[in-house]
Amino acid sequence: MKILFINGVNLNMTGVREKGVYGVQSLDEINSEIAAYFKGDECLFFQSNCEGDICSRIQSSKEEGIDGIVLNAGAYTHYSYAIRDAIASVSVPVVEVHMSNVHAREEFRSKSVLSEVCKGVICGFGKNSYILAAQSFKL
Ligand code: DQA
Repeated sequence: MKILFINGVNLNMTGVREKGVYGVQSLDEINSEIAAYFKGDECLFFQSNCEGDICSRIQSSKEEGIDGIVLNAGAYTHYSYAIRDAIASVSVPVVEVHMSNVHAREEFRSKSVLSEVCKGVICGFGKNSYILAAQSFKL
């Protein structure tokens, strides 16, 4: 199975920013653990702070032969209609993830404009949110 993990804005700061919320590991370290967990699968990792680059990567996922996308769009989750439309434009299933429990934080984080067009949502399990989301493609 070919699984694409997309991390959006500010996720490159994981391990540096708000360690009490997002942990002390860098995104590269988390991605290495994910790749090791799914060693029988092909895992691709993409991070960008640019909304349009995230849309482009989602758009090309079908041609890339991606079976499923695990997407942590970061703060874009809460207001990016562009990413929402990109998800809706492809048949590849997308699972929205968040490391933190967005429903136990500031009110603005409870609202996602992406969830409606995603296959499902996983949040609150730290780095394991990514693993739980990717496992759903195998059910
Ligand atoms: C996040 C939650 C978002 O609200 C926030 O803007 C992030 C990270 C998470 O993984 O918990 O950047 O998506």
